[in-house]
Amino acid sequence: MQHTTNPLIHLDQVARHYQVGDSTVKALDEVTLQITPGEFVAVLGASGSGKTTLLNMIGALDVATHGTVKVGDKTVTGASRKELAQIRRSEVSFIFQTFNLFPGLSALENVEFGAEIAGRNNPREAAIEMLGRVDLADRIEHFPHELSGGEQQRVAIARSLATGNPVLLADEPTGELDFRTGVQILELLHEQTHDANSPDGKSDRAVVVVTHNREIARTADRIIELSSGRVISDGPPEGGPAAIANLHW
Ligand SMILES: Nc1ncnc2c1ncn2[C@@H]1O[C@H](COP(=O)(O)OP(=O)(O)OP(=O)(O)O)[C@@H](O)[C@H]1O
Ligand SMILES: [Mg+2]
Repeated sequence: MQHTTNPLIHLDQVARHYQVGDSTVKALDEVTLQITPGEFVAVLGASGSGKTTLLNMIGALDVATHGTVKVGDKTVTGASRKELAQIRRSEVSFIFQTFNLFPGLSALENVEFGAEIAGRNNPREAAIEMLGRVDLADRIEHFPHELSGGEQQRVAIARSLATGNPVLLADEPTGELDFRTGVQILELLHEQTHDANSPDGKSDRAVVVVTHNREIARTADRIIELSSGRVISDGPPEGGPAAIANLHW
């Protein structure tokens, strides 16, 4: 299936300011960028540079002080709380550093819940399929505390894939994992931007991964680097994307 080359994510002069006492913190400062389907984007930057704020803007978890944010064909800017909730349900899914699974739900129930929220017709079927895809078919009845860190993160990825939503946002998804497990998770995230059945081999999804790790960032199609809320560089890694197999950190 031919996917559209229209941007999936569109930010125009986006700012997010916080008023703290007498001073203004510019968590994001006039950020303009577009991300198209099939792109795997790494967001790099020091602590406090605005990475999470940027994800929250794209994910309709927070609204800009000024500027325009669009995701898919939805405009986040100016949306009511109800409309923001709809955008979160239908356009984006989140993966966090600390996995954020529901401890009282099994792996299957956690993933099914993601599919239900997104309004999938057959949430259980979708959940079983996605858990298979992250290689956890034999762990579906396990509760989060009965899974390793890497397995928990794979459940979280399955949950976000089960939504079927086109934008996958991950905030330091390998931060809590050892190297080998981190590489597995990274591979799984990369796979989401590929589709062997499409003419250009790209899927109609985009993945945006926040990381502190330059080695991880070098595997991306594109690296957006933030400093003090501003984009200081945006482009492919030098020499092109690095193969995951050559990674070490
Ligand atoms: N609610 C808030 N009130 C005031 N300042 C805030 C608030 N949330 C974030 N900030 C400030 O905005 C800036 C950007 O924060 P953000 O969380 O986006 O950084 P980050 O790049 O994700 O950092 P880290 O790598 O540590 O997660 C920081 O300087 C932070 O202190
Ligand atoms: Mg952060």
